[in-house]
Amino acid sequence: MKVIAVLNQKGGVGKTTTVANLGCALAERGVRVCLIDLDPQAHLTLHYGIEPGAGASIYDVLTAGKPILDAAVTGLENHVTVVPSETDLAAAEVELVTTVGREQILRDQLREKPLPFDVVLIDCPPSLGLLTLNALAAADEIVIPLQAQFLALQGLGKLLETVSLVQRRINPPLRVGGVVLCMYESNTKLSGEVVADVMQFLADSRGTSVPWSEAILFSNAIRRNIKLAECPSHGKTIFRYEPNSRGAEDYAALADEFIESLNIVRGATEPTTETTEATVEVTEAVVEVAEAATETAEATPASATETAIETVEPAQANATEAEPVCSREAASDVAQGEAVLREPWGGGPQGNQAP
Ligand SMILES: Nc1ncnc2c1ncn2[C@@H]1O[C@H](COP(=O)(O)OP(=O)(O)OP(=O)(O)O)[C@@H](O)[C@H]1O
Ligand SMILES: [Mg+2]
Repeated sequence: MKVIAVLNQKGGVGKTTTVANLGCALAERGVRVCLIDLDPQAHLTLHYGIEPGAGASIYDVLTAGKPILDAAVTGLENHVTVVPSETDLAAAEVELVTTVGREQILRDQLREKPLPFDVVLIDCPPSLGLLTLNALAAADEIVIPLQAQFLALQGLGKLLETVSLVQRRINPPLRVGGVVLCMYESNTKLSGEVVADVMQFLADSRGTSVPWSEAILFSNAIRRNIKLAECPSHGKTIFRYEPNSRGAEDYAALADEFIESLNIVRGATEPTTETTEATVEVTEAVVEVAEAATETAEATPASATETAIETVEPAQANATEAEPVCSREAASDVAQGEAVLREPWGGGPQGNQAP
């Protein structure tokens, strides 16, 4: 099972649209997909026609220890499973402020026992608070939706700083899988410039130890398409709402590239007992030291991310010593073994017209 956080702290760049439609396209291709709505706005929940607050949600998973599968909604398009959100989730950061290991709750829930999914996509909120930190701690990979706009790269820099911090202190195997261009308009000069900048930025990181050293710019950009903006209000993905649209075409192409580039395995076997035990040991080591550190820590909701990372910092050294399975070398070995196909961005589909 691969856990992928779809993340960009900038609002309205296409995170939710990507999780909803890419998730559906992956499921169409036989991937067992679980989508987690980690945003109190609950847009992903609504996109799948689920009423926020009508049943259990990710809020109950994070604050009351409800197992993921007990909060999951099934029977949706292409057998996609959705763990919904609700507005109460906004209070979770405050409610969890005294909870030890609060940045690892989602990770522990996803690893507690084998789940029947090949891919878990997490729709993150547009912030870098505790909810996003939970996504980063739980994720194997990050996918970044980006709009080709002025200052897009500046936002990307800030985001990658946070990813780097979390990777160093909480989740060593964390990697950035790639960047997806959303609401792409190929006929503008600015788009071309942003694409060139992103490609240069990624090229410069090759061979370094940063978590995005192997990240790609997905060659299938998602063009601006009004049908993609319309379908959430109908509680449908683009594939049910307007299957012949350019939006459906783009997300279908992205799904194919995604499976190949991120090495998505369909019907994957569950992790071995050895790996599971090793992970539990690391988690326990982290929690133990974090507990000691938290006794004196004064956390405030405003600084939840920083405080959580600071709290875990001394724990990581201990955890790494205790269990080398999470070391950067091990992660790199795994990445090499996966023989991931990393293609440069070769120009997405042309044009920007409605279907
Ligand atoms: N390719 C597209 N073409 C046209 N409209 C789009 C496209 N992708 C997304 N949108 C629309 O743009 C708006 C923002 O998209 P979306 O909600 O996916 O962004 P987000 O990053 O999840 O936002 P937030 O940060 O608020 O969670 C929505 O109204 C959505 O329907
Ligand atoms: Mg969103």
